[in-house]
Amino acid sequence: MAKPVLLVTRKLPEAIEARAARDYDARLNPQDEPWSSDGAEIARRATAAGAAGILGAAGDRLDAACINALPASVKVIATFSVGFDHIDIAAAKARGIAVVNTPEVLSFATAECAFTLMLMAARRAGEGERMVRAGQWKGWAPTQLMGVTLEGKKLGILGFGRIGRELAAMARGFRMEIHYRDIQKLPPEVEQGAIYHDSEDSFLGTIDIISMHVPGGDANRHWLNAARLAKMKPGSIVVNSGRGVSVHDDSLIAALKSGHIRAAGLDVYDGEPKVNPGYLTLENVALLPHLGSATIEVRDAMGNRALENLDAVLLHHTAPPHRVA
Ligand code: DGY
Repeated sequence: MAKPVLLVTRKLPEAIEARAARDYDARLNPQDEPWSSDGAEIARRATAAGAAGILGAAGDRLDAACINALPASVKVIATFSVGFDHIDIAAAKARGIAVVNTPEVLSFATAECAFTLMLMAARRAGEGERMVRAGQWKGWAPTQLMGVTLEGKKLGILGFGRIGRELAAMARGFRMEIHYRDIQKLPPEVEQGAIYHDSEDSFLGTIDIISMHVPGGDANRHWLNAARLAKMKPGSIVVNSGRGVSVHDDSLIAALKSGHIRAAGLDVYDGEPKVNPGYLTLENVALLPHLGSATIEVRDAMGNRALENLDAVLLHHTAPPHRVA
């Protein structure tokens, strides 16, 4: 029997492409670039290939127009990401196309990235690195590049899901006090001593550092805006390794300039890969290029997870383990 056609929109780790090519009639993208910024080219290629499945990624915009233009042969869209805000879920549901993602395997790595940003922001690591590279370092000095220590600080985790809880576990090792906001208070065995705030004002007014772990999409658009930043204590730190859309950039830039926010660490951007130019001239912000899950181990695990889900739908005709729609 002919293998199902799988359209793979982005270059993936070698072992994952090899597995896809073994089990599917895989149409790979050898260029390490997206085909287009809207989904039109994906729909065109899926139609030309008669694809049964699409293995896409976070940068692909699978909006309603793209999904409606997919051929009837498409049964499943797998995203090589845990986030799926780039896919119009309602349109996929309406077409009866299953959508699957890659949760769990990237939680620790993404929390590691948040922790890296938190340390970079607190300890002015980016600034120091730039100073050394620019040949401007004149030697050790008692008051040079003084940051703040994480020990004893109150870390506020917005969104206490898998990634937020991994971050909490790391932060306990740094003797930080963990606070969180989520849709509801979680059971004590999940909280592990983290302090729940049922009021946004008490959360924002208590913490020294906020780390954002909420999904993208309209529900959280520009959640961290001028009004909420103003409720944070002077000298607080902002970290975002979730989705760029949840931060209102101009407000954060203004707060970084005034010093109300001491420093920030960002791995994700509203409208990425575009980065608000206001950040680029500031010393007190650490900027990473959306590399939260970018480890060799995790990217292989994400690929295998995506393929397990695709296999369930296309090869075994069973329910995929990580179906989001
Ligand atoms: C995710 O998995 O959603 C990341 O942001 C992309 O790697």
